[in-house]
Amino acid sequence: MSQERTSSRAATTVAVASTKGGVGKTTISLNLAYALAKRGYRILLGDLDPQGAVGLSVGQSVSEAPGICGWVREGRGPVDGFLVHTRLPELSILPFGPCSWNEAQQVDHLAVHGVHRRLGQSFDVILWDTPAGLGGFTESALRHCEHVLLPVQAAPLAARALPQMMTYLGDLRRMGASVELTAVVLSMVNLREKASLAVAQEVWDLFPPSLVLDTMIPEDPAFRQASADAVPVSLMGRRPPAVAASFERMAAELEKKLHLGLDEHHGTPLRLVD
Ligand SMILES: Nc1ncnc2c1ncn2[C@@H]1O[C@H](COP(=O)(O)OP(=O)(O)OP(=O)(O)O)[C@@H](O)[C@H]1O
Ligand SMILES: [Mg+2]
Repeated sequence: MSQERTSSRAATTVAVASTKGGVGKTTISLNLAYALAKRGYRILLGDLDPQGAVGLSVGQSVSEAPGICGWVREGRGPVDGFLVHTRLPELSILPFGPCSWNEAQQVDHLAVHGVHRRLGQSFDVILWDTPAGLGGFTESALRHCEHVLLPVQAAPLAARALPQMMTYLGDLRRMGASVELTAVVLSMVNLREKASLAVAQEVWDLFPPSLVLDTMIPEDPAFRQASADAVPVSLMGRRPPAVAASFERMAAELEKKLHLGLDEHHGTPLRLVD
């Protein structure tokens, strides 16, 4: 599948990261990966959370696949055999994989670099879900990704951690990383709640308007159900909940910010009838 269709341009690399936990990183990573794949981009969704968050979000077979930890354990050869393919040919997943804590520690920034190097020509976007905080696994992603997508939960105190994140990204750049904060997305937004609106206002005040996505991810019980069903919200049934459209809008916005442009990569006109 996607590995056979190589492109001359290396994949755009994106880390979904935040100092705070529970802000929607995994939910956004999964649903955004799905929405971008639906737009025709070849997406690799990689999991750098040793708890295997992506695997837990899409089902046991993915949780139990050897993943990046298995790839490291087995000597960092070709990665293709460690990918989990999905029902969308454009979307593949590299789960974290079950492993001991000691083994997990071997999933370092060189592992991320190795995945980018080996699979960079086979995907348009490599999107990493990261654990909360700025520790080892998150740093590994940020050292080798070009872009950061920062979800901010529209809940009290959420904006307090943002300056720390900005300082950290600045430090990484001074150390030679080329990572840029490319987009901030408000998540779990409830426009009827004053506290939620106040955070949105803080975010709009703190960042240049071009950085904050117009698309906000609303707070919606559908996400909890989607987690329970282990599917992206778009696959919750024949008639997906309205929130699924948020990720379609988000993917369309990010397409421009990430300069994806399908035609530039491999796009050919899609025939209505073969
Ligand atoms: N927009 C939303 N509306 C309602 N619930 C949501 C929304 N986004 C995520 N959730 C729920 O909130 C919880 C935390 O979301 P998620 O796991 O995506 O956050 P996270 O940032 O990845 O967490 P962690 O820091 O633990 O990795 C999950 O139960 C998820 O289903
Ligand atoms: Mg998570």
